[in-house]
Amino acid sequence: MSDLATIRAEALSQVTAAADLGQLDAARVAVLGKKGTVTELMKTLGTLAPERRREFGAAVNALKGEIEAALDARRGALSGAALDARLAAERIDVTLPARPEAQGTLHPIGQVMDELAAIFGDMGFTWAEGPDIEDDWHNFTALNMPPDHPARQMQDTFYLPARADGTQMVLRTHTSPVQARTMLDPEVQRMLAGGGALRIIVPGRTFRIDNDATHTPMFHQVEGLVIDRTTHMGHLKGCLVDFCRAFFEVEDLPLRFRPSYFPFTEPSAEVDIGCSWKGGELKIGAGESWLEILGSGMVHPNVIANCGLDPTVYQGFAFGMGIDRIAMLKYGIPDLRAFFDADLRWLRHFGFSALDVPSLTGGLGR
Ligand code: PHE
Repeated sequence: MSDLATIRAEALSQVTAAADLGQLDAARVAVLGKKGTVTELMKTLGTLAPERRREFGAAVNALKGEIEAALDARRGALSGAALDARLAAERIDVTLPARPEAQGTLHPIGQVMDELAAIFGDMGFTWAEGPDIEDDWHNFTALNMPPDHPARQMQDTFYLPARADGTQMVLRTHTSPVQARTMLDPEVQRMLAGGGALRIIVPGRTFRIDNDATHTPMFHQVEGLVIDRTTHMGHLKGCLVDFCRAFFEVEDLPLRFRPSYFPFTEPSAEVDIGCSWKGGELKIGAGESWLEILGSGMVHPNVIANCGLDPTVYQGFAFGMGIDRIAMLKYGIPDLRAFFDADLRWLRHFGFSALDVPSLTGGLGR
């Protein structure tokens, strides 16, 4: 019996002493392997008298079970520790700055869209979108430009091949069709009927047959639309003055509202911002000159009616602005075509850090 106790003590101390999985396996072999101490004890069972054999056999089996359990426990602890050690050794510090040469930049258009969202978001506008490939009705007819309206010629449209029914889809010439799509949305109509106000901006791609230093066949616009029961021209002015001053970061930026014509607004105004060209260099702010930056007006009652709303109840204003153009003006980018060349040197020069999210409090520019 003392033999059994010694073997037990030794075996268990070997198991506890094992410092890694290799040593643990050696301990297992030394005890339970073919020539292991406990295996040897088992072999002696046959030489014992039957009464003794039963008693001793049970004791050896219990010991074997106890040692197996100890091995399992130790194996669990060691493999947990092995995993911990591996995790510690292979840890990557994700807070380390990325290699600057591998860091991308945000394209000025994306940057300006984020700035638009920050400024108009602050005034209660939400972001809306619509399809680039539009049908004739949303792009023109709904906006008070029926098929034979001469104003259709103001926009050099890309038409898609005629479909079986003779109709032709267009690449939208402006973001204004999203005015119609939004007003027609039953959820928006319910919201308006309940006394709410619609305020959206629609940044997106637009297309016209045009190509020179300041025009590309694909360009970007942002549409703005406010509809409720009381919004008037004064709100239009206030909103656009606030926007231009925040966007160009010139507190006393002068704005000029010039009477103009759009089929979908009445009255209509084009908006200019003050600038100067001293020394041949453009500076935005009070100066001797003006730059046209957007079209705007009170939404035409026909448009409101075409979109399923009662024009004697609802009114509001809309505006449309070239995103590329205001990006060029704000960030001094001379040629629009370079926006779409995907030249990495240009992007490195004019791009923005992805980590500097524009906000009104954080300063919108760089
Ligand atoms: N859609 C007009 C354009 O592309 C701009 C505009 C939008 C004017 C909304 C007035 C109101 O020229």
